Amino acid sequence: MKLLVINGPNLNMLGIREKTIYGEQTYDDLLRLIRQVGQREGVEVECFQSNHEGAIVDKIQSAYRTVNGIVINPAAYTHTSIAILDALKAVDLPAVEVHLSDVSKREPFRQVSYAGMACEKSFVGLGFKGYEEAIVYLKQRLECKKA
Ligand code: DQA
Repeated sequence: MKLLVINGPNLNMLGIREKTIYGEQTYDDLLRLIRQVGQREGVEVECFQSNHEGAIVDKIQSAYRTVNGIVINPAAYTHTSIAILDALKAVDLPAVEVHLSDVSKREPFRQVSYAGMACEKSFVGLGFKGYEEAIVYLKQRLECKKA
């Protein structure tokens, strides 16, 4: 089983950007945690981060027939990108949305999630733990499909 974890713009700045919202831990710390969870769960996990909308669309397209599920934190593109929504719909893979912060309690412009419309589940406001929950959820969901 292979999962693709996609992180959008500015998430490479974790540990530097708005620490009161996103915490002290860095993007490398996040990669380490995801790798550990993948190993523990026996799931192959590929991580990808980009600050560019088109690169994220390309990566989602590349998941078609090569990956079993997608975990995505599209960051600010969550609230603007119909292209990312369409790409997720196009590949039609089980997808889960993650946000470090609780977007539901933030500014009005963060209340819409386009990507979320193509995701079967969202984990918000859990910090790094949200990625762990998303991987475990997809693993269980994909194993159920097999049985
Ligand atoms: C975020 C929330 C977004 O609104 C914001 O633009 C981000 C990070 C989060 O993980 O909480 O960059 O996706």
